[in-house]
Amino acid sequence: MRKKTVFSCNQCGCQSPKWLGKCPDCGAWNSMVEEDRGGTKNQVSRSIGNRSTPVPIDEVPSGSEVRVSCKIGELDRVLGGGLVPGSLVLIGGDPGIGKSTLLLQAMYHLSGNGDVLYVSGEESASQTRLRGERLGLSGKRLLVLAENSLEEIIRHIEQTKPLAVVVDSIQTVWTNNIDSAPGSVSQVRESAGRLMVLAKGSGIPVFIVGHVTKDGSIAGPRVLEHMVDTVLYFEGDRGHPYRILRAVKNRFGSTNEIGVFEMGSAGLGEVANPSELFLSERPVDAAGSVVTASLEGSRPLLVEIQALVTASTFGNPRRTTIGIDSNRLALLVAVLEKKAGLHLGGQDIFLNVAGGARLTEPAADLAIMLAVASSHLDRPLAQQTIVFGEVGLAGEVRAITQPELRIAEAAKLGFKDCILPAGNVRRLNKCNLKVKGIGNVQEALQFL
Ligand code: TYD
Ligand code: MG
Repeated sequence: MRKKTVFSCNQCGCQSPKWLGKCPDCGAWNSMVEEDRGGTKNQVSRSIGNRSTPVPIDEVPSGSEVRVSCKIGELDRVLGGGLVPGSLVLIGGDPGIGKSTLLLQAMYHLSGNGDVLYVSGEESASQTRLRGERLGLSGKRLLVLAENSLEEIIRHIEQTKPLAVVVDSIQTVWTNNIDSAPGSVSQVRESAGRLMVLAKGSGIPVFIVGHVTKDGSIAGPRVLEHMVDTVLYFEGDRGHPYRILRAVKNRFGSTNEIGVFEMGSAGLGEVANPSELFLSERPVDAAGSVVTASLEGSRPLLVEIQALVTASTFGNPRRTTIGIDSNRLALLVAVLEKKAGLHLGGQDIFLNVAGGARLTEPAADLAIMLAVASSHLDRPLAQQTIVFGEVGLAGEVRAITQPELRIAEAAKLGFKDCILPAGNVRRLNKCNLKVKGIGNVQEALQFL
């Protein structure tokens, strides 16, 4: 029989009978890889548990889901309040960021209630033990399995019936059903699919570790992200000890929660008060440094924004940002030029969020703008001042959500003043900072 070949895109997973330079679906270049498929063998079995019957929605048992705590508060928070039985959780992140460390620690805590299984396809069992010793973890109920064969892994799971399973990583797992190499699109898709069927059928929660590609997305087909219940990304700068665990998809909770950890000599420690950590090395009365309160899920986070504005020596001035979208900076600089009359055309502008955090909220606009203006004018903002507000293209400062939460966090850390949108001041309840409501950018610059 002639072997059937098919090409699948390693970005979106779409398939084509012939090779294409550009994926017709997601537009990625050079992403089509050849897969062998033996007939229909690579179809994931869809039978989950018993035969199903349609039921009126009112009669579906509501089963307020029981969650299991991993005893790592920051991980529980990102999962939406604990681990849901039968859920499939994908954790991605750069190599060496701490995925294996975090999961081994979580499994150790879960092993207090019964057997748990840590499947490592990357490290031998003794390497995993060494890591455990380094972390001070041991125990009879933390089972370690160094295995790559999906069939073997599933057999062991069915035999030991653990409370939870980790598969580290999905790219190292392969199944006999498919001829292509481990880590290929169809292998990853099939393995994840079979693990999903197992998790849903047995109620055992399964964590899978996924490698990320150069551009930061999880390697393998995008369909992997659609299949699983929860996708978590572990981020952080290798130069800093802080790590942020972020939920980008969660069927059982909010997707904008973050967990903050610190990598130390004994593994990952939780950071109970991240604001304190992000502000710990803040310079005193320095021009270009402004603190803002960003909301990550339900949690306010105080971070320092640093700007450096210097005369450019090249014709084309540089705009470099770390932790903030550079388009956002370009927009805010244009508003500063047009509405506040600052001449930034011949200036290089560098912007950094201290401590390796990343800001995506528009509430950081005003602080970014003040940091740039402060550096340009060489006039610092009063040290104990916190700033937040969204800036519009007409130079107006717009109200943002949940100012009370942000103010309360700032008050806790000893801030005295708050510059915020006038629209928020009107509706503000009692608060323990001196609030200064502003309506536009020009008013904000008067505080410098
Ligand atoms: P690891 O969990 O192996 O990362 P991943 O699985 O995401 O690739 O993390 C390895 C890094 O963490 C490595 O650079 C060493 C560091 N590390 C510590 O700093 N302290 C520790 O206690 C451990 C176990 C690792
Ligand atoms: Mg690892």
